Amino acid sequence: MPRITIQNISNKTVEFKDSSKSVLKIFQENFIDWMHACGGKGRCTSCKMQVLSGAEQLSAPSAFEQKMQKAGRLQEGERLACQCKPAGPLLVRVPDQNKLPHITYTD
Ligand code: FES
Repeated sequence: MPRITIQNISNKTVEFKDSSKSVLKIFQENFIDWMHACGGKGRCTSCKMQVLSGAEQLSAPSAFEQKMQKAGRLQEGERLACQCKPAGPLLVRVPDQNKLPHITYTD
C-alpha cells in the first residue's frame, strides 16, 4: 500500500489504499491532527502542506488551489491537504505557520 510520510512529525507514516480520499481525510482516519479551519471545505489555507516528493502522485490543483496560487497564498510545492487526493507515496511537511500548538514537531 502507498504511504504518506510526514517528515516533521517524526517521519510518521500512514498507509492508504483508497485514492478517492483527500490527504486530509487519510490523516483524520489515522488520528493525525492537521489544521483544517474551514472543515476541509476549500475555503481557507490552514491545511497547507509542503510536498517534498510525490507531487506528481496528487490530483490536479482544485479551482480553489489555483485561485490561492494566483493570489500568492500557495507557493511552489505547497498543496492543500483537503483538496488533493494521492495516488502514490508522498513525503510532506507541516509549514511553520500551520503547526498546531499541542503537537511536538521535529526537524
Ligand atoms: S481546511 Fe480549509 S482549505 Fe483545507
